[in-house]
Parts: sequence; structure tokens; C-alpha cells
Amino acid sequence: MAQILDGKAIAADLRSRVAVGVRDFVARRGRRPGLDVVIVGDDPASQVYVRNKAKACEEVGMRGEVHRRPGDITQAELLALVHSLCARDDVDGVLVQLPLPKHLDETAVLDAIDPRRDVDGFHPMNAGALLSGRPALVPCTPLGCMRMLDHAKVSLDGARAIVIGRSNIVGKPAGLLLLARNATVTLAHSRTRDLAARCAESDVVVAAVGRAGLVRGDWIKPGAVVLDVGINRGADGKLVGDVAYDEAAERASWITPVPGGVGPMTIACLLENTLRAAWMRAGLPLPELPL
Ligand code: GUN
Repeated sequence: MAQILDGKAIAADLRSRVAVGVRDFVARRGRRPGLDVVIVGDDPASQVYVRNKAKACEEVGMRGEVHRRPGDITQAELLALVHSLCARDDVDGVLVQLPLPKHLDETAVLDAIDPRRDVDGFHPMNAGALLSGRPALVPCTPLGCMRMLDHAKVSLDGARAIVIGRSNIVGKPAGLLLLARNATVTLAHSRTRDLAARCAESDVVVAAVGRAGLVRGDWIKPGAVVLDVGINRGADGKLVGDVAYDEAAERASWITPVPGGVGPMTIACLLENTLRAAWMRAGLPLPELPL
């Protein structure tokens, strides 16, 4: 039976380490690190997410501010807001909550964020840095996955890892981070043939496709580590991951639950990235938190 990778507990530990780094930053710079979150429109789920992000900032001693704009904001107005935030010295991180309303050009907005303040790690400059093995600001969910693997002291050197899902936000960066740790990475997706067989030969499985229960128990190599990034609503309304949890837990050595697994790590890593951004802009050597 697998041991559970408790995202809530690991995230709490990371947050307390970030809080120490924040106090250190305040002592040296005389101001708090700050994250500014932009939200457009009134999508209820996004409203909850951004409130949680700002609250998490305050809890570790950072400044967290939400900028709410109406759903009919123009592209020019939104770009002007992003530019004005990125020009402020007290703004260390800028995050534009996705998705944006259809009339806005999401790519152009994300590209307008100063790469040094891009705590989502979505800017092509940061994506390119990760690709070329010089990671700067790395997307929060894949970073959270790596933090969990480190918590379980999983040896990645020479291990076979499969990432199911090739999104820019999770799958691709997760694959690159695993590769940077010398795993042999398969980046699988909806067209992958023999997915079950590819999975069954993997020591580490990262599932990030958004299909409830896609990964079955008999796909899991005995002793493998399973990270489930999926958050899906099951037929009964409950949250379920991309992995059939009960089956997979019979074979895995470690597994993340949904909810309470990778999810809580994402916000903790956003805080880590904001501290990292503040630290880098100040030209200070980074405190403890190695990538
Ligand atoms: N919407 C859902 N997840 C995310 C995320 O990680 N970053 C941003 N900016 N928007 C999101």
C-alpha cells in the first residue's frame, strides 16, 4: 500500500520556510516582497483562487494585492495595467489570472509581463530559460511536483518518468524539470500509442490531462511514485484526479491524493516564486530554496 504524499503538510512546511525568507528580505530591504494579481471579469472559481493567493501572501508576511477589472476591459487598458504594475519597484510578482474573456489576446497579455516579475513562469523568456537548463522562474504546479518528489526523497537520477499531458503550464515544464534531474522522460499525450504500457515501465508518473480516472491501477509499476495533477468533477460531484486512486495506491510506493495533493503545493510555490523574484531583482543571493 502506497504512502500518501500529503500536499497540505508539505505546502505548510514550504510556506513556513518562505516566511523565514520574507523576514530576511524585509530586514535587508526595508520593505515586504509583493505580489499583484490581476483578475478580469467575475468568474466565481477564479475569484476564489485569487482571494486565496492574496491571503496566502499576507500569511507569510508579503504584500498581496488583487486588481479587479470588469469583463469588458479593452486589450489596451489591460496592457496598460500590466505595464504600470511592472514599472513599480514594490511589485515583485505580477500574475494575470487565466482564463481571460474571449475578446482579449491572452498570449499578448502574458508576454507583456516583465520576465523578472513573471511568477507564473509563463513568459517565453522563462520558458526558454527552463528549456536551456538555466531555470529562473518556473511554473508553480510543476515546481510543486518536484518539491513533493524531494520530500519523498525519490531518486530521479536515471529513473524512467512519464508525464501524461503536454500543456505549457504543467506537462512540458514538468518534463523539463525531471530531465534536468537526469530522469529519462516520456512526454505522453492524447495521441500516444500504448499509453498503459509506457506508464507500466515508469518509475515516476505525473498525470496532468484532466480526464477523471484515466490512469488505472494495472498501469502502475509496483513501487512507482504517482503524482496526480488532475482536478476533475466526478459523476457524483466530488473532486477526482486523473488517476484511479484506490487501484493505483495498491501498487505505488507514494501517491498524491486529490484533493489535498499537488493542489496546495501550487500556491506555496507561487509564494516561493514571488520571494525568489524579489530576491533576484534586489541582486541578493537566493536563500535556501534550491530548484
Ligand atoms: N488559472 C488557473 N491556474 C492558473 C495559474 O496557475 N496561473 C494563472 N495565471 N491563472 C490560472
